[in-house]
Amino acid sequence: MSQTRSAARRTRRIGILTGGGDCPGLNAVLRAVVLAARRRQRWEVVGIEDGFEGLLARGKTRVLDAEDVRGIIARGGTILGASNRANPFAYVRRGARRPVDRHREVLARLSALRIDTLVVIGGDGTMRIAGELMALGVEVVGVPKTIDNDLMATDLTFGFNTAVQVATDAVDRLHTTAESHDRVMILEVMGRNAGWIALHAGIAGGAHVILIPEIPYDPALVVRRLSARYRQGLAWGVVVIAEGAMVQGGAPSIVEPGNAARTARLGGAAARLEEELRKAAGLEIRVNVLGHVQRGGTPTPFDRVLATRFGVAAVDAVAARRTGTMVALRGTQIVPVPLMDAVGRERKVDPRGEEIAAALALGIELGT
Ligand code: F6P
Repeated sequence: MSQTRSAARRTRRIGILTGGGDCPGLNAVLRAVVLAARRRQRWEVVGIEDGFEGLLARGKTRVLDAEDVRGIIARGGTILGASNRANPFAYVRRGARRPVDRHREVLARLSALRIDTLVVIGGDGTMRIAGELMALGVEVVGVPKTIDNDLMATDLTFGFNTAVQVATDAVDRLHTTAESHDRVMILEVMGRNAGWIALHAGIAGGAHVILIPEIPYDPALVVRRLSARYRQGLAWGVVVIAEGAMVQGGAPSIVEPGNAARTARLGGAAARLEEELRKAAGLEIRVNVLGHVQRGGTPTPFDRVLATRFGVAAVDAVAARRTGTMVALRGTQIVPVPLMDAVGRERKVDPRGEEIAAALALGIELGT
């Protein structure tokens, strides 16, 4: 799909799809791409439903006009069908075990749809697929998305701020009920391999203990912190734990093992911690798992603005022929960076970083 003379003559067509799980702000990106492409460049935008799955099926694409994106900036989820993790290079058919390579069908569909450039909104997995398509000559621009904020090459992903807002609300609410009943409240939040949501919501909500995947914890230290409060007459406390947190020498809790089609489903970190703490005398414990509440619903104003800036920057990158890139926040600026910089490495919390130092300075127990 490299630029041909005929593509230069006719109206440029941008295809857009979202890959992976949903994320608050997806619709804000779609809206920004459609409006900027049409208003600034007079390009056509083709929305592809159901991620890469939609390029392997018929009838899953439609031209998006300004009317199609009216009023969607505040809406969670995606207007482009169902978000999923389908990978055309390792596609697992329903009921099948072995993945098959269907990328040639995707190339054929892109060409049949006369799509000149593909804008993909996604996380690490989606950027990897985009990188493989790029290596085959497809013009691609990536937009980083994940509530976990664990994508390399960008300082921030949209959706993270909303997830932290929801998790912080939960921490605030748990404080008052914990205090009213002299209980320890454990809140499990999302974060497979990176503890950004737990760390930020825990600091913002004034949690007493924060446990993240990057710092395997010693349950005895958690007990010590909560027991010290108990002895001061504070028989209550709030613990925030990331779903991917693990005890020292242990592994994350898994409820469903991964396979060729998807990664392992995590769950049970808070329940396991409750077991570990139950032995501690005098502590009455309750477990709360926040789950997909963090991913659903309306994005915060911050995420709407960030998503909008990413969408406009993606169109600008196409106009400037900076394809093979992902738009990224670097400091206060959005810039295109090589797509492959975002692939294969996760942005994790630095145990020696400033946020961790701040948490320790406040006396928050991190379990190590
Ligand atoms: O990657 C984002 C994320 O929200 C993770 O934090 C979580 O483990 C995962 O998605 C949940 O995925 P699913 O919705 O497929 O269960």
